[in-house]
Amino acid sequence: MIPDNLRILVVGQGGREHVLCWKLSQSPHVSRVYCAPGNAGTALDVMNVDISATDNRRLVQFAKEEKIDLVVIGPEAPLVAGLTDDLQKAGIRVFGPSKTAAQLEGSKAFAKRIMKLAQVPTADYQAFDNLDAALSYIEDRSAMKLVVKADGLAAGKGVVVCDTQFEATEAVRSMLAGRQFGTASDKIVIEERLVGQEASILALVDGNTIIPLETSQDHKAAYDGDKGPNTGGMGAYSPAPIVTAEMMDVIVEKILVPTVHMLRREKADFCGVLYAGLMITRQGPKVLEFNVRFGDPEAQPVLMRLKTDLATLLYLAAEQRLSELDELEWDDRPTLCVVMASAGYPGDYEKGKVITGIDAANEVEGVKVFHAGTVLQGDQVLNDGGRVLGVTAIGDDLTNAKLRAYQAVKQIRWEGAWCRKDIADKARDM
Ligand code: AMP
Ligand code: GLY
Repeated sequence: MIPDNLRILVVGQGGREHVLCWKLSQSPHVSRVYCAPGNAGTALDVMNVDISATDNRRLVQFAKEEKIDLVVIGPEAPLVAGLTDDLQKAGIRVFGPSKTAAQLEGSKAFAKRIMKLAQVPTADYQAFDNLDAALSYIEDRSAMKLVVKADGLAAGKGVVVCDTQFEATEAVRSMLAGRQFGTASDKIVIEERLVGQEASILALVDGNTIIPLETSQDHKAAYDGDKGPNTGGMGAYSPAPIVTAEMMDVIVEKILVPTVHMLRREKADFCGVLYAGLMITRQGPKVLEFNVRFGDPEAQPVLMRLKTDLATLLYLAAEQRLSELDELEWDDRPTLCVVMASAGYPGDYEKGKVITGIDAANEVEGVKVFHAGTVLQGDQVLNDGGRVLGVTAIGDDLTNAKLRAYQAVKQIRWEGAWCRKDIADKARDM
């Protein structure tokens, strides 16, 4: 179905990219995997290339020189900056949406407009670039709880979920008047606050065919019990029992299909991972946001369960040939990923601390430690980011997966390391 001896370049440096590299390097069709720029984990499992994920010119040059058969773009920033378009212009096969289609994540106002046109269930909203208009909108909704969002990319920090009208007003002021996120908050979206549990639905899309992956649930808040500030995600597990098979049918029919159709009508054909961040409300699933890439950390537990060859999936998607695939095969056992973070994250943190115990953690049955913010120095692994490791385990049931993951976490040490202790407890309580 796809050729052998493939040479693949993964772009990015987080936990998502590590799991992508790990899976792709196990494929019988793949002879070499590069990661640009990668982290200590990808340096150990595949081969790192010292090029930044946003250096389009050098990435294109590398892909040409090294005769790369497929580039897999991990993070949103290069997608929104048009890396796919630049690679395709050079005749290189890419898994990841075009700059136009990536606006679905790059602009909240664009995403809301597509959802409205496609009649996708989502929170009521309005977009603003004028402070007075935004403030009077909030005033008119004094009885409602609101969420204020920067239009552009803000590394997961551009969303303020407000309890009071005062908080909403403050958020609007600091985004529009204070330019808190620079140009990313020159425009904002104000929307109704939804109540429920969240779930992440990732689907492979090639413009025509949509293949949903197994479900997962992220933990966005920093601390146990969903307290504290929003983060990039402190842990995830798969499957998410809150999404039943019947609900999945509704999600495909009412959310994924109409969104992909509307993108085509808007001349923004989508190829890559369409990620719907959902709130499961009493009225059913509603979209909180779309992302245009694998979730991080969701990719770690979801891809650990994937039995179908990942290289085949991504290669066929890049060639608009997903319709040739049979049903995907999955390990029925649940998986769980605990993110270990640096002291201070999601605020400021110190880098360069020596991490020990990763090998011992990897020896716990069913465990793989995916690296995120790490760097190799000689043969030492140092922390180099806020989210440092994604300790991921498969188990006979969720309790067993959790036990294994936290057993592995206990092996790992560096100064200031911390993690949430309650990953997946919501599923076990159901
Ligand atoms: P987003 O980047 O839009 O997904 O927002 C980040 C997080 O903010 C989500 O994962 C939710 O936890 C929360 N959030 C976003 N929009 C809403 C909403 N309309 N109602 C409640 N919570 C929200
Ligand atoms: N875990 C949330 C995200 O990838 O956006």
